Amino acid sequence: MRLPLVVLAVLAGMVCGVDATVYFKEQFADGDGWKSRWIESKHKSDYGQWKLTAGKFYGDAEADKGIQTSQDAHFYAASARFEPFSNEEKPLVIQFTVKHEQKIDCGGGYVKIFPSDLDQSNMHGESQYYIMFGPDICGYSTKKVHVIFNYKGQNNLIKKDIKCKDDEFTHLYTLILNPDQTYEVRIDNEKVESGSLEDDWDMLPPKKIKDPTAKKPSDWDDRAMIDDPSDTKAEDWDKPETIPDPDAKKPDDWDEDMDGEWEPPMITNPEYKGEWKPKQIDNPDYKGAWVHPEIDNPDYIHDATMYKFDQIGVLGLDLWQVKSGTIFDNFLICDDVKEAEEFGKETWGVTKRPEKKMKEEQDDMERKLREAEEKTKKKDSEGDDDEEEEEVEEAEEVDELDELDEDNGTEEDSDIKQKDEL
Ligand SMILES: *[C@@H]1O[C@H](CO)[C@@H](O)[C@H](O)[C@H]1NC(C)=O
Repeated sequence: MRLPLVVLAVLAGMVCGVDATVYFKEQFADGDGWKSRWIESKHKSDYGQWKLTAGKFYGDAEADKGIQTSQDAHFYAASARFEPFSNEEKPLVIQFTVKHEQKIDCGGGYVKIFPSDLDQSNMHGESQYYIMFGPDICGYSTKKVHVIFNYKGQNNLIKKDIKCKDDEFTHLYTLILNPDQTYEVRIDNEKVESGSLEDDWDMLPPKKIKDPTAKKPSDWDDRAMIDDPSDTKAEDWDKPETIPDPDAKKPDDWDEDMDGEWEPPMITNPEYKGEWKPKQIDNPDYKGAWVHPEIDNPDYIHDATMYKFDQIGVLGLDLWQVKSGTIFDNFLICDDVKEAEEFGKETWGVTKRPEKKMKEEQDDMERKLREAEEKTKKKDSEGDDDEEEEEVEEAEEVDELDELDEDNGTEEDSDIKQKDEL
């Protein structure tokens, strides 16, 4: 009877993480209920308003309701609290869905995980967090997934570049942090990056450093090529760069008294060969590039607990958005990857196809309307320069995009500006 027991145990494990601990889950499924769970920061007086909605298109009108940024060019700051926990010796999984249905030009789509002592009503851009994770888009240059860990008071950005999704559909973002100090980032339940904290962040000083006592020997020849000593300049090498045009003729009506002495215009000399340089040959004494020897860094101390955060207690959305409309939903913080995978399948997994279908139908409708409109327009005004106008508008939009970064300039930025003005 042993075998069936084993099989059962395996099955139970596969069905769902039975031992999973869910620290935080938010699906915005109880109408206005979220308003009692989420605290809006009052650090600024003009934060943008959040709106509960499934958006313009969705897979399920109820299940896809999340909180949406509703005002353009605003900062947003809201957070939710849960029972504080430590991820010591356990995996930490942070997951949520983001939908930039507005064709986002510039705006954050990430979460921040805070220690439980965060003053939520005063949360702001400089509030110290443990982890920042999720997509960020600004103009054409920034389209990445942030993974930032706070270590001993410093925020450390991942050194790898992880591209985020920039379309209008809902996407599932998952960060897995393991007690063996490895991590994995998934988008739509597929791995997009993985590695170790030690390799992909600069939290610890480097293991090896260049030996400060080692120096390149003064006779070290690292020139791969040298001038050929046997090469000499040909006698007839030097020719002037320009010569008087031999084909030029003094115009018939040239008046020496009035116009001065006639001189033919100068042209480039076809025989000019430029500056002479000796032929290059392999350097017989070449020793290769000198490699600075390395030694163990005396300042390096291994830390097997970089992954550990003692008082995880708040999830916050602290963002800047130029074009609003992003919907956040299906937040999950737990200690079990399988659990998160399943939750992802039950939420994003179920609604992604109908969501896409609804969007395609809407696009189709719009296209047909536009075509009909254009037809009537053309009939009304043949010969108008509508197209040119459109092009100008587009160019202006691109210019604006380049400036977007400056709109959320921090207070330091405005300080600099003031100093410049003085
Ligand atoms: C402004 O916000 C965008 C979108 O989140 C971000 O990519 C960019 O780095 C921010 N710029 C500054 C100066 O903070």
